Amino acid sequence: MERKHFLTLGAGLTVGSLMGKSPLSVSATSTSSLQTDWLNQWQENSNLPLPVEPNRDAPETDGPYWDFIRGLFPLNPKTTFLNNGTMGITPLPVLEALNKSFRNLAENAAYPMHDGSFEEQLAQIIGCKGSELAITKNVSEGVNLACRAIPLKKGDEVIITRHEHVGGCAPWLYRAKTEGIVLKVIELGSTAEETLQRVKDAKTSKTKVLALPHIPCTIGQILPVKEICGWARENQIISAIDGAHPLGMIAFNIKDIGCDYYSGCFHKWLLGPIGTGFFYASEAILPKSVIHHVAAYSVDTFNMSTVPPSVGELVPKTARYSYGTFPGPMYDGARAAMKFYVSVGPELIEKRVKHLSKLLMDGLMERNNRAKGPNGKDPNVEGKPPVLWKMHHSQGPIMQILTPLEDISRGAQVGFTIKGLKENSAELNNANPNNTAISKPPTASQRFCDYARKNSVILRYVAENDIHCVRVSTHYYNNLKDLQVFFDVLDGFLKEEGWY
Ligand SMILES: Cc1ncc(COP(=O)(O)O)c(C=O)c1O
Repeated sequence: MERKHFLTLGAGLTVGSLMGKSPLSVSATSTSSLQTDWLNQWQENSNLPLPVEPNRDAPETDGPYWDFIRGLFPLNPKTTFLNNGTMGITPLPVLEALNKSFRNLAENAAYPMHDGSFEEQLAQIIGCKGSELAITKNVSEGVNLACRAIPLKKGDEVIITRHEHVGGCAPWLYRAKTEGIVLKVIELGSTAEETLQRVKDAKTSKTKVLALPHIPCTIGQILPVKEICGWARENQIISAIDGAHPLGMIAFNIKDIGCDYYSGCFHKWLLGPIGTGFFYASEAILPKSVIHHVAAYSVDTFNMSTVPPSVGELVPKTARYSYGTFPGPMYDGARAAMKFYVSVGPELIEKRVKHLSKLLMDGLMERNNRAKGPNGKDPNVEGKPPVLWKMHHSQGPIMQILTPLEDISRGAQVGFTIKGLKENSAELNNANPNNTAISKPPTASQRFCDYARKNSVILRYVAENDIHCVRVSTHYYNNLKDLQVFFDVLDGFLKEEGWY
């Protein structure tokens, strides 16, 4: 039977020969022949520049460059996706690489071999040696590896934040519960300086580990990890960083940060395949690191026919932590994601995401100034608008922005809470007849996230650790139109709520 292989892009556009044997069919309505041609050639040569020049004077503004890139994302055009912090959406170059690799495996029985080149490619981006990296399936796996690699005894203390994801804290919580290590939980500061000070203040003579996120999942601020890890080193404290968010969002260098362990993933901001991650253990910490699981790729030799059966040495690289058969095509997808990231431009990406999050903050503040309050009265003191930008944690009548406003602390995510005017309304309480402390009516922030979803705007409600905020994530594929949709939906909600 003759097989038909082609990639369908947009309205009736088909590409086959250049794409290789691809049965993939995607509908990216905004994909043009410019994108298709570029994509075809890029598959063969990832050094190929993008066919549209970015505006270098204002890299963050919308225009042909970002339109071109947006067209490479087959996201349903009806959806406004502002939740990249949970999971990145894969662009066509990554989908195509996945498809090619899975086909190769099926057609040529090509067992994926682990030769270290993947780690080398990542090392180039994050600034370490390939031998200091292992592949994982997600961030949680890396955090667990770091947590279990550190020998600790009862009473030893670990500094950690209130803003952890379950994947960032559960391994430590479990060790606290089962082994009696003590977690010292700090609140994040509203500036980088304040956060650094809080970390320092939490130290005692028993502090052995710092387990902190580089960028927390809750409100997305960038922690001053370089300063924190430098201080930790001076104080003989081991640093284990949860790096779920930075890769693909901001440029960083692991050696410059100077941490001992770092766990990240490809499936968030790098826009790689779901279920791909990495674990860094520095050359210096590796010999002191405990390992619990070993198999192929962990040890150099083994022989069950000697008496007694024998095993050689652990391989002298962090790859010892990833063992056995691995999903090669998924990592081929992650390779494509790394190449695409480099093609788009790490610096441009960082500037753009920071700019989009600033626009978001500005828009939220502006709405705070519009509030008329429940009785049609201006809630601002003596009718004066609040001076919001001068405050670190921005508090207005309608919303409180939890993400620090200073540039060095702002990444691609903004966390804010909405004050509800309907919190005690009969309507809501009737919808939640068991209105007890356990089953409270939803907060206004939660109701807004539900309302937004009904309008095809995807946000994240952060209920964890009693934070209860809305988190908006904007990546470089988002644009001003997406922000406008977000604000239209927010205005609709605030109107319904009675704020204006
Ligand atoms: C800060 C942080 N740490 C850890 C995780 C867990 O990541 P994964 O699902 O890749 O294990 C997440 C996921 O959102 C996160 O945001």
